[in-house]
Amino acid sequence: MSSHAAPRPLAARRSGPLKGRLRVPGDKSISHRAFIFGLLSVGETRIEGLLEGDDVLRTGAACRALGAAIERTGEGQWRVRGAGLGSLLAPQDTLDFGNAGTGSRLMMGVVGGHAITARFDGDASLRKRPMRRILDPLELMGARTLEQAEGGRCPILLQGAAEPAPIEYRTPVASAQIKSAVLLAGLNSPGRTVVIEAEASRDHTEKMLAHFGATVKSEPFGEAGRRITLEGRPMLSPNPVIVPADPSSAAFPIVAALITPGSEIVIEGMMMNPLRTGLLTTLLEMGADIVELDRRVEGGEDVADLRVRASALKGVDVPAARAPAMIDEYPILAVAASFASGETRMRGLHELRVKESDRLAAVADGLVANGVDCAIDGDDLLVRGAGGPAEGGGMVATHLDHRIAMSFLVMGLASKKGVSIDDEAMIATSFPTFRPLMASLGAEFS
Ligand code: S3P
Repeated sequence: MSSHAAPRPLAARRSGPLKGRLRVPGDKSISHRAFIFGLLSVGETRIEGLLEGDDVLRTGAACRALGAAIERTGEGQWRVRGAGLGSLLAPQDTLDFGNAGTGSRLMMGVVGGHAITARFDGDASLRKRPMRRILDPLELMGARTLEQAEGGRCPILLQGAAEPAPIEYRTPVASAQIKSAVLLAGLNSPGRTVVIEAEASRDHTEKMLAHFGATVKSEPFGEAGRRITLEGRPMLSPNPVIVPADPSSAAFPIVAALITPGSEIVIEGMMMNPLRTGLLTTLLEMGADIVELDRRVEGGEDVADLRVRASALKGVDVPAARAPAMIDEYPILAVAASFASGETRMRGLHELRVKESDRLAAVADGLVANGVDCAIDGDDLLVRGAGGPAEGGGMVATHLDHRIAMSFLVMGLASKKGVSIDDEAMIATSFPTFRPLMASLGAEFS
């Protein structure tokens, strides 16, 4: 299990207008998958723009432990020489994923589909997260959970299936992690694996499967879902991966510029995959002045530069159906809503309770600590905005959650009394350059 150094508190002060251009680091979801597909193909995969955050580096370390040779060749540039599907090594030591839910769950899929046994563990946050949602389908495919902590939590000892059974699986919640774990295990199955999701979740695994030469089909299912069919045991061949800028990280400077009077910034090369842009849709409904400057395709994904200007926002009703396309953005949306006029209702947030922290509770507590009028109503979060600067002045408990940390620092930049957080350390998991990049726009921290 990872050890933790002493917490590092940080304060964001009320700052002047934010100005400038920036490119946020590579997408976390794609970066994890780039290492994993590199491991599973034979030959050399070149990666450009990889997010060098702690979560992704731990997935890289796990891929090494399973037989990949991984080398950094420059900033964000990596080479992976894969062990190949069906030829993975059993790791000698525990796979320590630190804070990373995605890395651990996707790698459970990889191990679950191979005749190897591995122990999965992580920090105090990861140890609280439910893993039954991953272990259940893997067990149907023939994997065995040899050890687990209470309720199917880490540490977990997982014995993969030598010949994983092809299954048809309906995910119980909209989750790209569950879908991906089943597909990754299904890769080494002799038949056809089908995953059905009632609501479409991010499709990076499907795209990367096709990019590496697998036969995968994604069709609409019901009103908003997908049915994904994968032919097992493909010959995966390496293909370069260019990682676009992470919309979940761009969300922080975008909202910072919207709520800090006089701001005007440009975000470069942000991924515009429609399964990731729910926050943008919502902010535009709130009246945000965000303009797309240059849409293009990079590395197989639509990307765009976005010009963002400070805006008078108004409260909106965010439908539950939008949650999969903005699941990681609710903390920062709640901050934006605190500055809007009127009420914002964010519906159907049950999945937020099982993220890096109980994000529903952490957001509501953080808002209350900073004088914002808010309430949790079942699975909904209600925020009544000030129609201007929030009061601030609070100390926010981050519960080992990077997105709680960054959201409340953003709030501090535009609040009357600033905002403090109890620990900035976890920001390194997804956005290690958050502080210098924000400072380059004019954000003040102390
Ligand atoms: C991710 C899927 C989402 C998201 C996480 C990254 C992925 O989790 O919250 O940050 O890369 O597949 P769920 O699948 O649990 O919704």
